[in-house]
Amino acid sequence: MSSATLFPQHVIARKRDGHLLTRDEIAAFVRGATDGSWADYQLSALLMAIFLRGMTPEETALLTDAMMRSGVVADLSSVPGIKVDKHSTGGVGDKVSIPLAPMVVACGVPVPMISGRGLGHSGGTLDKLESIPGFQTGLSLDAYRAQVRRIGCALIGQTKDLAPADKTLYALRDVTATVECIPLICASILSKKLAEGIDALVLDVKFGRGAFMKTLPEARRLAEALVAVGRAGGKQVRALLTAMDEPLGRSVGNAVEVAESIACLRGAGPGDLMEVTYSLGAHMLILGGAARTLEEARSRLERSVRDGSALARFREIVVAQGGDARVVDEPQRLPAARLQEPLAAERDGVVTDVDAMAVALAALRLGAGRARATDRIDPAVGITCLVKRGERVTRGATLCVLHANDETALAEARLKLLGAIAIGDSSPTPTPLVAETIL
Ligand code: URA
Repeated sequence: MSSATLFPQHVIARKRDGHLLTRDEIAAFVRGATDGSWADYQLSALLMAIFLRGMTPEETALLTDAMMRSGVVADLSSVPGIKVDKHSTGGVGDKVSIPLAPMVVACGVPVPMISGRGLGHSGGTLDKLESIPGFQTGLSLDAYRAQVRRIGCALIGQTKDLAPADKTLYALRDVTATVECIPLICASILSKKLAEGIDALVLDVKFGRGAFMKTLPEARRLAEALVAVGRAGGKQVRALLTAMDEPLGRSVGNAVEVAESIACLRGAGPGDLMEVTYSLGAHMLILGGAARTLEEARSRLERSVRDGSALARFREIVVAQGGDARVVDEPQRLPAARLQEPLAAERDGVVTDVDAMAVALAALRLGAGRARATDRIDPAVGITCLVKRGERVTRGATLCVLHANDETALAEARLKLLGAIAIGDSSPTPTPLVAETIL
C-alpha cells in the first residue's frame, strides 16, 4: 500500500499494539505532519504511541530520513572540504558555538552552522549573536551556501524550508508530554542537522541539573542513539558527554555571553569554556581531515587563538552577516543594562555548588530568556563574574554581577542567585567536564 492510502488510525493502531512501523507508514506520518493531511490529534496520538512503545534504531533512522526530506536538503557540494558542524543538546551559559566555529574555520575546516533560539532555561546561539548590533541570522539558504563557500562559515537560524515536519511535530510534543523520548529527540535533532548539507557532526550531549538529560546514563543512551542514527544517514558522527551541573563559563545571558566568547577567542576565556570548546573542536578537526590526532588538533586550535586567526575569522563572520564588527575590539559597544549590581558572599568559605538550573531561572527572570516561544528577550541583561565550584571566597567578595533593566526583576533574580550558590567549609570533589566520548 502506498503511504498516501494509509489511514492514520491504522498506523496509530499498529504502533499502539507494539508492531514495527514500515517505511511507508513512517512516510505517511511525516507527510501528514508536513501537508496537514493528518489532524493534530492523529499526529499527537502516534507521538504518544511512539513515546510508550519506542522505536527500533531502524525505525528511528527511517523517521529521521523522512523528516529531513520533508523540506529542502541544502546542497553544499560546491563548497570544497569536509563540512563539519557541532550540535549541543543545550545548557546554561553554553556559548561554545560562538568561539568554536571561527576556531575550526581558522584551521581549514568549513563550518555550516544552523542554530536555534533559547527556550525555557536553556539559551540559544541565535539570540546571543543577535545582541551584536546589526547581526542578521535570517539568511536564505542561497545566501547561507554562498557565505560558507566564501568564508567557510555561516551562523544562521532554522529556515522554514528545513525539516518543516519537525516544526509541527516539535510543537505538538511540547504540549502533549512527548518531548522526553529518545527516538523522537534523535529524529528531531538529526533531521535538521542532516538537512544543513554537512558531512560530519560532533554532538555535545550535556548531562546534569542544567541539561535536558539529568544523568550520565540517560545522556549516554541519547548520545549512542544519535551517533547510530547519524551514521545510518551516511554521516560521520561523534558525541562528547559533558557536565552541565554548573553553568559553563562565568556569564549567562546574551550580550554578556558574546563578550565572554570574544574573550575566549583572545585566549582569555574561563577554563571550563576553553576546555569544552577545544575538546569539541579537536574532534571536528579530525572529522574534517585537518588533524590526525586529538593532540595535534588541539594544538592547532590553540595556535588559531594565539596567532589571532580565529578572532579574525569571527570578525569576518560578523561583517558578512551585517553586524557591527567594532564589538570585537570594543565589547563595550554591546548592549548594556541600566543596573549592574554585585552579589556579595555572606561568609568566608569555598564555593561548593553553583546550581545551573537556578542560575538559568535567575537569568530568565532578568529577561535574558523566554518562557514561551513568542516572548521577547532583553539582550543586555544577564549575569557575569560568576564564581565556580571549588573557588575560595571571603565574606563580602563578589559571587556574581547582575545586569538588569528592572528593579523588581533584579531583586527577584538576586534571591534566586543567593539560593543557587552554596558556600561551605571543604572543597567539593572535582568532577570531569568531558565525561565520555562516543566514537
Ligand atoms: N532539541 C530538538 O531540536 N529536538 C528535540 O526533540 C529535543 C531537543
